[in-house]
Amino acid sequence: MTAPKALVAGNWKMNGLKAATSEINRLNDLINEKGAKCDVLICPPFTLISTLVDTGAKHVAIGAQDCHMNVSGAHTGDISAEMIKELGCDHIIVGHSERRADHAESNETVKAKAAAAQAQGAIAIICVGETIDEREAGKALDIVTSQVKASIPDDATADNTIIAYEPVWAIGTGKVPTAADVEEVHAAVRDVLIDRFGSAGDNINILYGGSVKASNANELMSVANVNGALVGGASLKADDFYGIISAYDQIG
Ligand code: PGA
Repeated sequence: MTAPKALVAGNWKMNGLKAATSEINRLNDLINEKGAKCDVLICPPFTLISTLVDTGAKHVAIGAQDCHMNVSGAHTGDISAEMIKELGCDHIIVGHSERRADHAESNETVKAKAAAAQAQGAIAIICVGETIDEREAGKALDIVTSQVKASIPDDATADNTIIAYEPVWAIGTGKVPTAADVEEVHAAVRDVLIDRFGSAGDNINILYGGSVKASNANELMSVANVNGALVGGASLKADDFYGIISAYDQIG
């Protein structure tokens, strides 16, 4: 298959009430007027998914930030991939570092969640990334490649899997790795994907995430093997987020 389009995805985390619907409408209008050379996704909290899907914004896909590894059952407070799919979502983020830290999610858990998403026909956006201590100890490549190996289900393809490299120390801090560091990690992830999945691994999108904003998007998105962005803070306001999307006007 041919490689999917680049993806600029927003992760609203635990932010947004119904009033945030206006941001989706505004984003949809901006893309309608000015265009987008990449696919665009917003992953709001579960509570807003239906409201945002109901806007009918045709240029903005709506996804989820997590799912349970089981289809149904006695798991109070959890949401399954089947439930998310039924709302009209095709993308589910799994293994974000905040979930790995706040909910002690292991690679094994993340892999089971990714498989649960894929089993429902959704695309799992699997997050990986090193802490500052790991980077300073020279272990970033080892950590990230071992997370990728252990978090990806065996039947991953470019149709059901996206990887997001997000250095933990770059999330919400305004700090970003150098383009050379991003290139090195993305190349290592690409090697793991090709080793394991052959040519299919060449087509799996690898997003960069961590303090992406309009002012650095062009540089980061131009790096080899960077196939889009996963954006937290700068995805909450449509105009800021569109500034990142429009970086693809120059990249093509
Ligand atoms: P940030 O978050 O863009 O606010 O750094 C990125 C993320 O956690 O996905």
